[in-house]
Parts: sequence; structure tokens; C-alpha cells
Amino acid sequence: MAQISKRILTGHRPTGPRHIGHLVGTLKTWVELQADHDCFFLIADLHVLTTDYQHPANIRSNILEVLADWLAAGIDPQRSTIVLQSAVPEHSRLALLFAMLVSESRLERVPTYKDQIQQLNLQPSLGLLTYPVLQAADILVYKASLVPVGEDQLPHIELTREVARRFNQLYGEVFPEPEALLSSMPRLPGTDNRTMHASYGNTILLRDTPAETTRKVMSMYTDPTRIHANDPGHVEGNPVFVYLDQFDPQTEQVEDLKSRYRAGKVGDVEVKQRLARVLNDHLAPLRERRAKFASQPELLMDILQKGSRHAREIARQTLAEVQEAMGLSLANEFDLPP
Ligand code: TRP
Repeated sequence: MAQISKRILTGHRPTGPRHIGHLVGTLKTWVELQADHDCFFLIADLHVLTTDYQHPANIRSNILEVLADWLAAGIDPQRSTIVLQSAVPEHSRLALLFAMLVSESRLERVPTYKDQIQQLNLQPSLGLLTYPVLQAADILVYKASLVPVGEDQLPHIELTREVARRFNQLYGEVFPEPEALLSSMPRLPGTDNRTMHASYGNTILLRDTPAETTRKVMSMYTDPTRIHANDPGHVEGNPVFVYLDQFDPQTEQVEDLKSRYRAGKVGDVEVKQRLARVLNDHLAPLRERRAKFASQPELLMDILQKGSRHAREIARQTLAEVQEAMGLSLANEFDLPP
């Protein structure tokens, strides 16, 4: 245990309450990483504005929803630092300095940028183009060396590495070249078997009540080729069984259910009833913790403020070092309010 613990930074955009896809895809891994890493978890509210700047009213409540979900899942503010991006201005300031080191054409080639423009059907702003530069600043402002992310984020980590390399080449060794830590979990499908996403209305939220969860499970997509309960059914690619594999601790009973399903000896309703029970059992302790946090907004504010304050101390040091290296050291000697 004498190992030096590596610093981790990762985060979510506060786009709304978290769902079970976030729970198995990212939150469970983050919770485990806390045991032997110096973890920074970022609520990236500035990044929300890159696409959603027309809906500022939702951001504040979404931040608190995400935080309550994180805490309920086991993110521990005693062990880890939870940061609100907009509370630490060094993120934006470092992003501006990094923007000097990245060409416009390089950013236009980032695949997430092209995807977003197509999907959202919007005039891309300069903010959207520079999204990955801000993300590089998020990571490097704490000199994090590991970034747990999903595959979709790899192009941003690659850009972060390029920025770190370029900076070090030009100005001397300041930054580590951070590595992505890819989630080994396959993505959980949505209840309609498409990608799980709030905009599709196919999520099960951590904050849903047991009754809502049951209702969503009972209307899940299963096997479209199966008309009657005694038709042989398909288990592979059937989201009800994907969820059972993920959440049901009684693996033998699940295997038995699968063989009866394949043989047309069990109806969808029975399988779904089991899944609803299993999911609600699994989520019960988490929901209890969540309700406690959600009822104490002052506690949530306090956790976010303390985390951001600690983060800011580190971010300030990095920024001073960067300004020094980039020739902006004069202002470091001023005695101005922070
Ligand atoms: N872009 C990430 C996402 O959409 C969120 C994010 C912002 C992030 N800054 C980060 C993730 C820094 C990892 C590290 O999921």
C-alpha cells in the first residue's frame, strides 16, 4: 500500500438526473477507484452550454440532481474531491491558454464535433468547437494522469495528450500525459433496446420510485418475434435478460428462466415481474440515501463548495505555473483580489 496514488479526474455534464446506465457504466467504477486513487469528480456545467445555452433555467437543479445521484451511488466527499466547473475559473483560463496551442482544423476533425452538428442541427458555436480544449483544461489543471471514460470520449483524451505534449515541448515539463481508463462494462441498452438516453424516454432513473420502475419494466421491449407466451423466445439481445444478467444475483435462477424462455415455457410478464423486483431490491439502499441527500440542499451546496474550494487551491498553482511558463508571469506578482 506504499504506492503513490495516482490522480484521477473524470466527470459528467449535468444534463439531468442519472439513470441505471450511468450507474453500471461509470458510477460503480468511480466508487471503486476511490479506494486507492486521489479522485476528482467534475460536474461540467460550462460544457452544458456548448449545446444547451438556450435553456439556462434547468442547469442549477440538474447540478444538484447529479450530485445527489453521485453521493447516493457512493461517491464519498470525505475521500474524493467533487468540483463544480464554473466555481473554479482556472478551468476556463487554462482553456484559453491551451487554445493557443491547438489549430482550428484539428478541432474540426474531432469526431464528436461532427456528430453533434449532425444530431443537433444547430449552428456550431466557437464554444462547441473548443469543447475538447476545455476538457483538456479540466484534466490538466489538476495534472491528473488517469481519466476513466467511455469509448465516446477517447478522441477528447487523445487531444488532451496532444496538448500536454505540445505544452511540455514548448515550455518545459509541466503536465503528465494522461491516459484513458476505459470502462470494461458493455453499455446497458435502454428499455426500448436503443441506446439509453434521456432524450429517447427509455431510461430508468436512480430517483424513480419503485412503482415507476415497475411500470417502465413492464412496458420494456423484449423479443419482437414472440407473439404468444408459448412461442420460443430469444434471450440474446433481449434487454430484459441483459438487465437480469446485470442486476440479478441469483444467476442459476436466471439461467433456468432463460432456458424456459427459449423453450416457450414462460411468459414475458413473469420475466418482467422478476426483473422489476430485482431492480427495485438493487436500487432500494441507493434510493434511501438519495432521498436523504435530496432533502438537504444546504448539505449538497456545502459539499460542492468545499470540494470546489480544495480544487481551486490546486488549480491556482497550476495556472500560476502555466502563466510563468508562457510569459505571463508579471501578473503573478500583482497583489490583486483573487
Ligand atoms: N465530455 C464528458 C462527457 O460528455 C464530460 C467531461 C467534461 C469530462 N470534462 C471532463 C470527462 C473531463 C472526463 C474528464 O461525458
